[in-house]
Amino acid sequence: MQGLLHYPDMNQSDQPSRVTLSPQAPVEFRNHCTPEFLRELVPDPGIGAFSRYSPLAADRQLAALGKVAGLPWSRVLVAHRGGRLVAYLTFHPPEADSRWASLSHGQIFELGGIEVARGLRGLGLASQLMNQAFSSPDFDSTIVYAQALTWCWDLEGSGLGMAGYRQMMLLLFGAYGFEPYVTDEPNIRYDRANLLLVRLGPRAPAALVGQFRATLIEKGEES
Ligand SMILES: CC(C)(COP(=O)(O)OP(=O)(O)OC[C@H]1O[C@@H](n2cnc3c(N)ncnc32)[C@H](O)[C@@H]1OP(=O)(O)O)[C@@H](O)C(=O)NCCC(=O)NCCS
Repeated sequence: MQGLLHYPDMNQSDQPSRVTLSPQAPVEFRNHCTPEFLRELVPDPGIGAFSRYSPLAADRQLAALGKVAGLPWSRVLVAHRGGRLVAYLTFHPPEADSRWASLSHGQIFELGGIEVARGLRGLGLASQLMNQAFSSPDFDSTIVYAQALTWCWDLEGSGLGMAGYRQMMLLLFGAYGFEPYVTDEPNIRYDRANLLLVRLGPRAPAALVGQFRATLIEKGEES
C-alpha cells in the first residue's frame, strides 16, 4: 500500500473522519450514512464494479446505497472527496430467500458490497472502511459473511488474474477476522474461485455459531 494516508482516530466511528491523500484532495469517511446524506453525493465515474461499469453504473450504485441505508438493520459507510463518492461498504440482513435468513434477526449480517473507485485503489480506502466497521464492538456478538463472487471482480481494472484477485480478497477480508468457509450454497458453488468469507464475532453466542455451521452444507456433500 502506498504510504500517503494519515489515519484518523478510529474510535470516532459515527463522526465524519478525514484522510489526506494529498494537500488538495481530502477524503472524508462517513459511518452510518442516512439516505438523505447519500442523496447529496455524486458518484465518481470510477465506481461501477457491480454493474460492470456500464454507462449508468455509478449512478445506479449510489441509488442502491440510498436504498440499503433506508432498510432496518442495515448500514452504509462511504468515503467521499468533496461530495464525490469514491468508496463504500454496506451491511444488511440476509436476503429473504437466502439460507441464512432463518438465523436470528439482528445476529447475522451480509457484508453486501465493498468498492473503491478505479484510480483510488491501493491507497488503503477499503481497509479504512473495514477498520471503521470493525474497530467498534458493534459486530462482536454477530456473524458477518461476504459472498465474494467472481462476476463482480474487476480483473481488467486491477490487472490481477483470477488467482491473484482471490488472494487479494482473502488478504483484505482476512485482516478483519474473515475466514473462508466451505458451503454448497449455489451462488458460491457456481464458480470454484468464489469464496464465502465469514467473520464469527468474538462474542457470538455458541448456539448462533452452531446454527450457522449447520446451514453451510444442505445436501451432505462438500466437494
Ligand atoms: C477490492 C477493493 C475494494 C480493494 O480496495 P483498495 O482500497 O484498493 O484496498 P486497500 O488499498 O485498502 O488494500 C487492502 C488490502 O487488500 C490487498 N490488496 C489491495 N490491492 C491489492 C493488489 N493489487 N494486489 C494484491 N493485494 C492487494 C492488500 O492485502 C491490502 O492490504 P495491505 O496493503 O495492507 O497489504 C477494490 O479493488 C475494488 O473496489 N474492487 C472492485 C470491487 C470488488 O472487487 N469488490 C469486492 C467484491 S467481493
